[in-house]
Amino acid sequence: MLKTKGLEGVVATTSSVSSIIDDVLTYRGFNVDDLANYSDFEEVIYLLWFKRLPTSQQLAEFRNELIESASLNRELTAMIEKLPIENAHPMSVLMTCVSSLAMYDAEADEISQEANYRKAIRLQAQLSSIVAAYARIREGKEPLMPKSDLSFAANFLYMLNGEIPDKTSERAFNKALVLHADHELNASTFTARVCVATLSDMYSGITAALGALKGPLHGGANERVMKMLNEINDIDYVEPYLQRSFKNKEKIMGFGHRVYKDGDPRAKHLREMSRQLAEVTGEDKWYNMSLTMEQIVRKEKGLLPNVDFYSASVYHSLGIQHDLFTPIFAISRVSGWVAHILEQYENNRLIRPRADYVGAKHQTYIPINLR
Ligand code: ACO
Repeated sequence: MLKTKGLEGVVATTSSVSSIIDDVLTYRGFNVDDLANYSDFEEVIYLLWFKRLPTSQQLAEFRNELIESASLNRELTAMIEKLPIENAHPMSVLMTCVSSLAMYDAEADEISQEANYRKAIRLQAQLSSIVAAYARIREGKEPLMPKSDLSFAANFLYMLNGEIPDKTSERAFNKALVLHADHELNASTFTARVCVATLSDMYSGITAALGALKGPLHGGANERVMKMLNEINDIDYVEPYLQRSFKNKEKIMGFGHRVYKDGDPRAKHLREMSRQLAEVTGEDKWYNMSLTMEQIVRKEKGLLPNVDFYSASVYHSLGIQHDLFTPIFAISRVSGWVAHILEQYENNRLIRPRADYVGAKHQTYIPINLR
């Protein structure tokens, strides 16, 4: 029996959604560098789901479908209003809301291709409406619905802030969405596939994936990166902070990767976006601190930044609250989760590995009154 901690090196499935080969990431065979430089996030969703790039007309129709499916029902916003804001992490809110969406969908358990497509559109559209609505409700503001003439990226920022974003912010956010859309068999995608391989429904698969994404070793790292930058707060304290962390054998959030050996190809785009946004906002402190951290961690530990490291300063520069960083990861990654769920349904077999039992053996049961 093959045994490997954390399933390292195990090939658990075949997939045609995305690949990481020799440190190059592709979605459906397209290099993510090209998609990040030239595509809209909506095009990428279409590519992931339909396995080809859309024509202009297909893209326009797809955009409309997304916008038409973005409205939240009154019951859901009423439920959000009742959540305990002081204790609710937005990822917990998102999980609760996504699982409750199933209760308002008559075809929730229907796993035909057509029903799954309708669910996919709803989930893709509504995750960003939920995150933006929650962010506004907790500040005592009314939720906003998307505008038909804005892109997915611009609409999220609009629904969050109530203002149409400038072109630099829209472009930066679009790029971040493209870069986070899919990533082969990462922990949350694997979770989604394990869940639906029992023939459970898409809402359950996405809720399970959200739970896995929330953890600090996965999508939760971006929020922790900002927390760390805030704690350090001054470029002169970066070196002492890192030396102390190395000494205490603490993990530095936003560094390292299970698969990439020579660096995460997404990090360079986020580093450049962080630099550009620092120029636009005039606040270059976080970018400069991040750059110094990268240099020291690389030199001392040989570790390179992953997608989460520079996304922290990018989202901060876009004026996004820090506890929304991981939910923002989710509003992009849901596109990849859906593509993998559809692929799993197409050629399904229950995912059920074995465990190597290392516990006690041959125990004798002693009745409770004799223990
Ligand atoms: N800081 C310090 N040391 C690290 C880091 C880090 N960020 N990452 C790996 N290492 C060290 C480990 O301590 C370990 O050292 P050891 O062999 O001396 O004990 C060695 O490198 C291997 O690390 P593992 O944790 O076993 O590597 P694994 O492949 O299991 O984990 C992971 C990969 C989870 C990404 C890890 O690098 C990490 O914890 N990074 C910080 C959290 C993070 O940024 N997560 C986001 C990942 S990207 C994403 O999911 C979107």
